[in-house]
Amino acid sequence: MQDHKSIVIKPARNVLGSLRVPGDKSISHRYAMLAALAAGRSRFDNFAPGADCASTLKCVAELGCNVERGEHGVVIVDGLGPQLRAPGKELGCGNSGSTMRMLSGILAAQPFTSTLSGDASLSRRPMKRIIEPLTQMGAKIHAGDGDRAPLQISGAKLHGIDYQPQVASAQVKTCVLFAGLLAEGQTAIEEPARTRDHGELALRAFGAEVQRTHNSVSIHGGQMMHPLEAYVPGDISSAAFFLCAAAIFPESNLVIDGVLLNPTRSALLDVLTAMGSRISMLRVEEQHGELVGTIALVAGKGRHVLIEGALTALLIDELPVLAAVAPFTTGGLEVRNAGELRVKESDRLSAVTRNLQAMGAEVEQTDDGWRIPGGQRLHGAEIATYDDHRIAMAFAIAALRGQGETLIRDAECVAISYPAFFDDLEKLVER
Ligand code: S3P
Repeated sequence: MQDHKSIVIKPARNVLGSLRVPGDKSISHRYAMLAALAAGRSRFDNFAPGADCASTLKCVAELGCNVERGEHGVVIVDGLGPQLRAPGKELGCGNSGSTMRMLSGILAAQPFTSTLSGDASLSRRPMKRIIEPLTQMGAKIHAGDGDRAPLQISGAKLHGIDYQPQVASAQVKTCVLFAGLLAEGQTAIEEPARTRDHGELALRAFGAEVQRTHNSVSIHGGQMMHPLEAYVPGDISSAAFFLCAAAIFPESNLVIDGVLLNPTRSALLDVLTAMGSRISMLRVEEQHGELVGTIALVAGKGRHVLIEGALTALLIDELPVLAAVAPFTTGGLEVRNAGELRVKESDRLSAVTRNLQAMGAEVEQTDDGWRIPGGQRLHGAEIATYDDHRIAMAFAIAALRGQGETLIRDAECVAISYPAFFDDLEKLVER
């Protein structure tokens, strides 16, 4: 992990070149958890290098699995099958909501009690969304005030449920699917809007059957899984920072190889196209159900973009960087229905607004989004990251087009998802 307390970002002239980004965080979490439940040795290459997925691996090891890490993102997990071992201590999830919420689905079905804890940010995040379905399935969960972490989960023999979550959340869907895999009978989830489908695809990659129609998924409990050998595709949510950087320099030319192109994750490419970029996808192939390929982008002039409804749910992790670069686009951006951003690693709606204002931008924050005019000139400023990796990276990108230097405070939080982010950014930037 790099130790970047504060980072100075100087304005750039252009963004040019090609790179690979680290393995996808969402897929890495799911592969590691399912590997624990598949008896035998699973092996992954290009596993996500950040602290969040390291938290998942630590928990999996604490639950009795042998876990080994090598160079280039090699991870080996020796899975135990559906029944894990009682942990000797609290399961620390660090900053990772995915670890806490998705692992809870597995712990709810184990014949022991375990406690999941997190850092200050994770301890503020809502957990009722997973406590409710897991309790309906038969688990006993004791949470802190306001249904927050730490969670004490007393596992039980679960039974399947039909569940309709109120929020569109892939973490909740995956949590319930993992519990459903270990429950008796059928479990079905109908989402209010479609979310990323890596849980479903990963279950299939490990040999489980999952049914899907429209926004509904279902799984039969008691299926045995086999171990998996897989290469984790590059994380498109990490690539998003460089793609947005390239989109705001008229002479840019950027190529990102081996990146995830799953349609539930790649809506950013449609938005950047509407904002004026010309994007091609090359060498697209399927790996364990996931689409992977190369993205090439050159910038151009585009129109105003409105992101709302189902599209907001699909872009949830890319909204901070899209908002951070929106002032430099031709047509500007409006985002609606993004109230979930308030309960991420930080209140991302406010964090983005304050930092854009610090750079001199005109921005209107609504209850659940922003209105940001295009064609603005911004100046360098001091950026507060609120220890949120995506805020730090989003404003490192906006800073490239600011007049004068920008200081990003507490920038070391990028290590949550992308430890080498600043080094990779410097490789692409022309000054
Ligand atoms: C994730 C789902 C999203 C996303 C998070 C990763 C996942 O969270 O913001 O970074 O891997 O399922 P929600 O499910 O809370 O929307």
